[in-house]
Amino acid sequence: MNAAIKPAMSLADAILQRRSIRGFLPKNVPEEIMRSLFEQAQQAPSNCNTQPWYVVVASGDLRNSLRDQFVDRAMRGTPPEPDFNYVSKFEGAYRGRQVECAGALYGEMEIARDDKAGRSRAALRNFEFFDAPHVAFLCMDRSFGATIAVDVGIYAQTLMLAMTAHGIGSCAMGSLRSHPDLIRDAFGLEENIGVVFGICFGYEDPEIKANNTRTSRVPLSETVIFKDR
Ligand SMILES: Cc1cc2nc3c(=O)[nH]c(=O)nc-3n(C[C@H](O)[C@H](O)[C@H](O)COP(=O)(O)O)c2cc1C
Repeated sequence: MNAAIKPAMSLADAILQRRSIRGFLPKNVPEEIMRSLFEQAQQAPSNCNTQPWYVVVASGDLRNSLRDQFVDRAMRGTPPEPDFNYVSKFEGAYRGRQVECAGALYGEMEIARDDKAGRSRAALRNFEFFDAPHVAFLCMDRSFGATIAVDVGIYAQTLMLAMTAHGIGSCAMGSLRSHPDLIRDAFGLEENIGVVFGICFGYEDPEIKANNTRTSRVPLSETVIFKDR
């Protein structure tokens, strides 16, 4: 590996330091580093080594044009037409965690719970890619279901950890699965390629309040059972 693109931290540090970044500097990630990050992600494991992810990355004019189209659809209230089923409403403990996470973000952004206009503006930031100079769309064949989407998720976390280790911020974005036709048009993809979700990435802007957001995790006892008899 080129010395210039050697990671600056251990895996444990990257796992602990990675967090969603929602505000970026207008500075491109050099192509050599970008290629190295995606090469590292390519090492992710998958069912029968099928490597079912198909990834397209928009930068520059293409990224700007996609942003404009996403924003335009959001402003018009165009209904999302995602390629894959998704959970639109969480219940019980999951809902509680969702509310806490939204509260942490809106708290940092100083948006009150009843501030509808503020929340709409914050939602629109998704479609502006939080000003990230690059956005990756993680795709897979539309015939694949949840079991294969797992592989795409493992790939995504491998990619985001590699980014963290190289000082590059990222945010996984389910919101960017809402208009897959835009991605297929922009990259000339076949109809069978579906968009699972997006990841925007670049260098963190430390002035953006949303980037002060910290999320918690529930105790291990709520999600893992160890048993030996
Ligand atoms: C698949 C996936 C989709 C997500 N979609 C969005 C999104 O559309 N917009 C957003 O602001 N954050 C999104 N997130 C970020 C989560 O809100 C974030 O990972 C979670 O709150 C934990 O915070 P952390 O990433 O800072 O540890 C997504 C994360 C994942 C893994």
